[in-house]
Amino acid sequence: MWRRVFDQRVLDLPDALQYLGNMNRLRTQVGIIGSGPAGLLLSHLLAQRGIESIILERQSRAHVEARIRAGVLEQGTVDLLRQLGLGERMDREGIVHEGFSMAFSGRKERIDMHKLTGKSVMIYGQTELTKDLINARLAAGGAIHYECPVLAVEEYQSSQPRIIYEQEGQRKELVCDFVAGCDGYHGAARKSVAQNRMQLFEKVYPFGWLGILADVPPVDHELIYASHERGFALCSMRSHTRSRYYVQCSLDDRVENWTDDAFWDELRRRLPPECAEKLVTGPRLEMSIAPLRSFVVEPMRFGNLFLAGDAAHIVPPTGAKGLNLAVSDVYYLARALAAFYGEKRSDLLDRYSEVALRRVWKAVRFSWWYTMLMHRFDDDQISHRLQVAELEYVASSEAAQTVMAENYVGLAFDD
Ligand code: FAD
Ligand code: PHB
Repeated sequence: MWRRVFDQRVLDLPDALQYLGNMNRLRTQVGIIGSGPAGLLLSHLLAQRGIESIILERQSRAHVEARIRAGVLEQGTVDLLRQLGLGERMDREGIVHEGFSMAFSGRKERIDMHKLTGKSVMIYGQTELTKDLINARLAAGGAIHYECPVLAVEEYQSSQPRIIYEQEGQRKELVCDFVAGCDGYHGAARKSVAQNRMQLFEKVYPFGWLGILADVPPVDHELIYASHERGFALCSMRSHTRSRYYVQCSLDDRVENWTDDAFWDELRRRLPPECAEKLVTGPRLEMSIAPLRSFVVEPMRFGNLFLAGDAAHIVPPTGAKGLNLAVSDVYYLARALAAFYGEKRSDLLDRYSEVALRRVWKAVRFSWWYTMLMHRFDDDQISHRLQVAELEYVASSEAAQTVMAENYVGLAFDD
């Protein structure tokens, strides 16, 4: 390129420097950091409204598509995916669940979500959803740049914020009207803002979840959340032939400490006998440990930088809310950006943080409550008895079950 430019003697030195600078600079309307569910869905929602975006992702496409995480999509998430024309494989391969069970004291109680709320959830792995979103985005000509770690967001208070990133060892920048920080808890977007401009709320729980994925049929046709003196356990699934199970573990535990047999034995001990007997075991496809935390940053907007999804908040997975909150955030954000570009209105952008946080805090509360109810805490003698009393109350009260079901299927998106 250098040779061509100078051989043709079309550029003098300042022009040549600018030319080279431009090679390292891209421009778009909305620069999106992160190709998790938040970033990918945002780019779809914007494209639907004719707004251009570019996604910068630190990892490779293969890495992003292989990450095993969430499994439960709320009704609102499912409806939005269908409305965007992104629900075809989900509707074919996903499994609709109208209820789930809570197990404690050797018994199993079903919460009939559909009867209590008229709604249900969809079992469809985040891995599959991510693949669908990536395929559809690329098929529509969308821009996703993989292996482009973002270093920082600069000048986010101005009308031309810049995302500084690396590609093949070169420092580059993406100039945009708005930046969406969809880069998860450890991302660069939130870290680009001075700490004194935000308020952080955080609670770290004194345990983690050890998860296994295995090609064995699920122990039950619906999810089972189990509270046991030895600790919490969750029986989930990805399909009729692939199960995802979790057991509460200590924070300093390591995957290397667990054989497959040790995992299955521990899970069996924490389930009611009727389930333990039916448990089918098999070799792991994957095993990992996830720490549990509740975390919220306020506000979610800093000038023309907007945070969405795990970049702005984390919930413990007990309530199956994280991915679904990422979806409601970007729904609000896309709506606000559409009002800006389409009608020159900035009022929805101004209200983004307030509106998103209202729904976020309700999910943070539910996830915290459900985590505290179901897990074993070593700190005192009384807490397990109180948990059992509350579980018995939920099992016996339709009002309590309705509260539980209403939160689990997902609260409505605000207007
Ligand atoms: P992420 O999925 O974390 O995506 C962020 C992206 O940004 C990543 O691809 C990352 O590589 C990229 N990135 C980070 N830093 C940079 C950088 N500097 N430059 C460029 N790119 C960067 N949620 C549910 O709703 N239901 C469930 O059932 C559920 N179960 C879960 C079970 C477990 C064990 C865990 C750990 C989580 C679970 N969650 C669940 C939570 C859910 O997985 C997350 O909330 C969800 O992934 C958030 O999406 P996101 O797009 O905001 O962030
Ligand atoms: C999962 O299937 O991974 C899963 C399901 C429900 C939860 C958390 C995780 O609450």
